[in-house]
Amino acid sequence: MSDKFVKVTTPEGVTAELPVKEGVIGPPTFDVKTLHKQTGYFTYDSGFAATGACESGITFIDGEKGILQYRGYPIEQLAENSNFIEVAYLLMNGELPNKAEFKSFDEEITRHTMVHEKIRSLMKGFQYDAHPMAMMMSVIGSFAAFYHEGMSVDDAKDRRLAAIRLIAKMPTVAAAVYKNYIGQPFMYPRNDLNFTERLLHMMYGVPAEPYEVNPVAAKALDLLFILHADHEQNASTSTVRLVGSTGANPFACISAGIASLWGPAHGGANEAVLNMLGEIGDVSNIEKYVAKAKDKNDPFRLMGFGHRVYKNYDPRATIIRKACHEVLDDLGIDDPQLELAMKLEEIALKDEYFVQRKLYPNVDFYSGIIYKALGMPTQMFTVMFAIARTVGWVSQWLEQYETADTRIGRPRQLYTGPVTRDFVNIDKR
Ligand code: ACO
Repeated sequence: MSDKFVKVTTPEGVTAELPVKEGVIGPPTFDVKTLHKQTGYFTYDSGFAATGACESGITFIDGEKGILQYRGYPIEQLAENSNFIEVAYLLMNGELPNKAEFKSFDEEITRHTMVHEKIRSLMKGFQYDAHPMAMMMSVIGSFAAFYHEGMSVDDAKDRRLAAIRLIAKMPTVAAAVYKNYIGQPFMYPRNDLNFTERLLHMMYGVPAEPYEVNPVAAKALDLLFILHADHEQNASTSTVRLVGSTGANPFACISAGIASLWGPAHGGANEAVLNMLGEIGDVSNIEKYVAKAKDKNDPFRLMGFGHRVYKNYDPRATIIRKACHEVLDDLGIDDPQLELAMKLEEIALKDEYFVQRKLYPNVDFYSGIIYKALGMPTQMFTVMFAIARTVGWVSQWLEQYETADTRIGRPRQLYTGPVTRDFVNIDKR
């Protein structure tokens, strides 16, 4: 805490002194916690555009400069040199692991990949066409029924075990969700494979014959997972923290995070991008759809464009754009939707409306194209995002318990309803 203060004076002339809190980098904040006590005023910030809700030492973003760092390491360096499990260790523990730490963490995750057989029976109760995100939300939430008694969120060891279980079991559940969708038998995890290979084996393997994992696909998934692992206080992470602030079961917290991620304004955008490209259909229709996106009377938006924080470019989009071309080349896929996407990007980037509002393609503009190339149905795209983001969610949830300033999340409001009035009996209304 610095010794600086910000002075605020209300229209009535009441003055409050609010302490300035500075992080190590990034804009300083002033702490409004005592504002109401000092002045009778609350702050109003719908959508939390200028409000920090917690202290965090995990991820740093500078939206103007297009910077994303996990524990101080630039995302570009991690994408180039690291792997998802190492990044998971980094996010959870704060430092990169040495060889022995990596081996032990990897083994720990690997040993928790199986799910209770009753979870498998529960999953079989869903209709074949249940949306995979609806199933993920329910199944991960239902883990709370298996890991509740005997686990205490106040015990650091229990919290860590819950985090490991979540990271390890998400791919097993995700693959089973996919198998339910296509009507194939669920596959058990193969612990001789690495994290992404294991996922691909559970998704695309069948008991009737051996399945060889394509290394290009496994590497592409690993990269996508690194890029999606954490993203500071986004909607789903804030949801996890808000639910977590009540002391709720960690599986319930992550289930709430999955619900939040599902929305098309957040993680659901990768699915929405592909649906949009399908709707546009052909390069000749792009102008029409760009005009629709600009028309304020039309709810249509260009999916995969714009970001609450990045106002110049999304550094993840730069990495993934390159990877997208490489993956399609490596897999020998000539996808007309990629051509359509590139043309759309080109036209929108030159358009005054998008330039003025600093609307650039975000990470999800490209991730869907890669998932499609790996043979995934669009409904599974956000599930893949959820597997990766689980690492960020659990890291932030763990950090919340280790931060002294954590209180139950309880925003205030600006009331706009009727003022006090007397009840009128139904026969007089
Ligand atoms: N297409 C057309 N216009 C847009 C778009 C878009 N994709 N995004 C924003 N705008 C316009 C808005 O209409 C608004 O215009 P105005 O100033 O004339 O009213 C202006 O740009 C600012 O937009 P806001 O909605 O205020 O920006 P906000 O920060 O609240 O929203 C969001 C960010 C939700 C990402 C938005 O850009 C959007 O809906 N994009 C499409 C969905 C998407 O791709 N989401 C993925 C986000 S990344 C992720 O979650 C991993």
